[in-house]
Amino acid sequence: MNEYIVKTNNTEETLQFSKELAQRLQPGDVITLEGDLGAGKTTFTKGLAVGLDITKNVSSPTFTIIKEYNGRLPLYHMDVYRLEDSYEDLGFDEYFEGQGVTVVEWAHLIEEQLPNELLQIKITHGEENTRILTITPIGKRYEMLCKELFA
Ligand SMILES: Nc1ncnc2c1ncn2[C@@H]1O[C@H](COP(=O)(O)OP(=O)(O)OP(=O)(O)O)[C@@H](O)[C@H]1O
Ligand SMILES: [Mg+2]
Repeated sequence: MNEYIVKTNNTEETLQFSKELAQRLQPGDVITLEGDLGAGKTTFTKGLAVGLDITKNVSSPTFTIIKEYNGRLPLYHMDVYRLEDSYEDLGFDEYFEGQGVTVVEWAHLIEEQLPNELLQIKITHGEENTRILTITPIGKRYEMLCKELFA
């Protein structure tokens, strides 16, 4: 499996990268975000929203599992951290198969419910404001996307 590594030195660089990624996204695309508390998953999602021409500020959903934003494409922002039972089905499929882009924070918690093809992004802390993004495309669509993005 191909893997792409992106190192960002501050919040701005992460926002810039996810914004550029978002400009290439298509209806039905799914991105999973993994990483410790404060790694930058929501920050990454904020950049995605900007790249999808969403004007509303994306916030970290505290009690809401799924939030929807309207832009060039709809953005479905899921944060499943507080899901009590990982087998609880909140109709995730309808989002994954929908006409928008779905981004899932803490996606491994609903591993069984994820689609077979997706763009997996793991964020780890480096020193201070450095973050390492490890991007793994799973499926042809996402391999193509990465080839374009990292060309
Ligand atoms: N290079 C960087 N990339 C992303 N965020 C960074 C970076 N450097 C510093 N930060 C800061 O780290 C914090 C990341 O918080 P964020 O809410 O995005 O994390 P999270 O992974 O969503 O956490 P949670 O698990 O609580 O949802 C923000 O305050 C952001 O400004
Ligand atoms: Mg978050």
